[in-house]
Amino acid sequence: MELPPIPPFKTKTVEPVYFNTKEERSQRISQAKYNLFNLHSDWVTIDLITDSGTGAMSEQQWSEIMIGDESYAGSESYFKLQRTVEDLMGFKLIAPTHQGRAAENVLFSATVKEGDVIPGNAHFDTTKGHIEFRKAIALDCTIKEAFQTNVEHPFKGNIDLEKLESVFVEYGKEKIPFIVITVTCNTVGGQPVSLKNIQQTKALAAKYQIPVYMDIARYAENAYFIKRRDEDFKDWSIKRIVLEMFRDVEVVWMSAKKDGLVNIGGFIALNNKALFEKLCQFTIIYEGYVTYGGMSGRAMGALAVGLREACEIHYLHDRVSQVKYLGDKLQNLGIPIQTPVGGHAIYINALKFFPHVPQGQYPAQLLAVELYIEAGIRGVEIGTLLADRDPETGKERYPEMELLRLAIPRRVYSLQHMDYIAVALSHIYAKAKEYKSGFKIIRQAPILRHFTVELERI
Ligand code: F0G
Repeated sequence: MELPPIPPFKTKTVEPVYFNTKEERSQRISQAKYNLFNLHSDWVTIDLITDSGTGAMSEQQWSEIMIGDESYAGSESYFKLQRTVEDLMGFKLIAPTHQGRAAENVLFSATVKEGDVIPGNAHFDTTKGHIEFRKAIALDCTIKEAFQTNVEHPFKGNIDLEKLESVFVEYGKEKIPFIVITVTCNTVGGQPVSLKNIQQTKALAAKYQIPVYMDIARYAENAYFIKRRDEDFKDWSIKRIVLEMFRDVEVVWMSAKKDGLVNIGGFIALNNKALFEKLCQFTIIYEGYVTYGGMSGRAMGALAVGLREACEIHYLHDRVSQVKYLGDKLQNLGIPIQTPVGGHAIYINALKFFPHVPQGQYPAQLLAVELYIEAGIRGVEIGTLLADRDPETGKERYPEMELLRLAIPRRVYSLQHMDYIAVALSHIYAKAKEYKSGFKIIRQAPILRHFTVELERI
């Protein structure tokens, strides 16, 4: 018999998991106005609200915390990070920021102006927010399979090249400062982009003289999927795939809270010196001096180590397999999830889970609330609440998919925790047809309402 795979780490420090009763949770969530962002973390047993900044650091990362160089200018920790990024990704110039959206703020301040069009594969909310805030347009060019939860496609994060070319033809390089490829594509379910699609997108962009930028929050997971799902690259190392992904890319930016394996941090990396100098002005205004941006020396040191660890094949295999383990369990139970499962989360199709609950009553939020009450598991709604109202008409916007996202933190939970999640969901699914109504909104903010919205049961 073959030896079974095991996690490539063992535990040195632990933190508690909190247990509450169903009655306590019912009361807490009602007091929280049915908004899971209002829950204190010790009222939660398994926290799957995000995989961002919630991972466990290694002993090598913790030692960097002790030796971090906190010099205001010229910190050795900055140069350690710079050397790592150059070696792993091929970019010589790096501007640290306090997290991903701060990198977007700095980068777009230097590159995006009113009326611009920025095509890409399903931009993440903060990316879109920073584009729209500058009165520019984020144009989605993801392949259509991405929006069909039960259609099998190995690279649902891919860009539709025909659509992209039509956008290039319509707006031209004067209106398009760059195109963004997000790896993996969080908005459509942590779905990967194939290396061939990245290469073809780069070739098409070059034809129209449009620079390619990449949002690389989960670049290592994307590289792993390329190795596993494309025969042509199965013998390539992760490092070689990463370097090929980033070849001829003008700028990358990263929320380091994901594949950087740190709790806070981000950066922009590039080779274009003139653009870097432009960025530095915004880094200094918004983040901090150039050699620390928004990060401490110790956090930059831990990130330098985390970036390398995230590219180790044993780590990546364990990480992606854990998410798939939960996905397979749920599929075997007949629970409607997006397939194939992506790199960092499971997405449950709430319209299919609760067929009798109208979309206008927020079925994915209902599932989030019921899962919390059932077992203390906290996920996040990716549906109508998140989509928010049309900024022009003020009307509700109904997205194509109504999803509950269960994001799995890195190196934190075990397979037993995954079993617990599957059983909890099976309990609700067994009586799903009995749920006929969801929620109505009693209070909401003008924008980004999902963080603070207050709800009432119908
Ligand atoms: N880009 C992508 C693809 C992201 O997933 C995120 C954050 C950001 C940019 C922004 O980075 O949070 O460091 O400012 N995603 C988190 C999530 C919040 O839960 O998916 P940030």
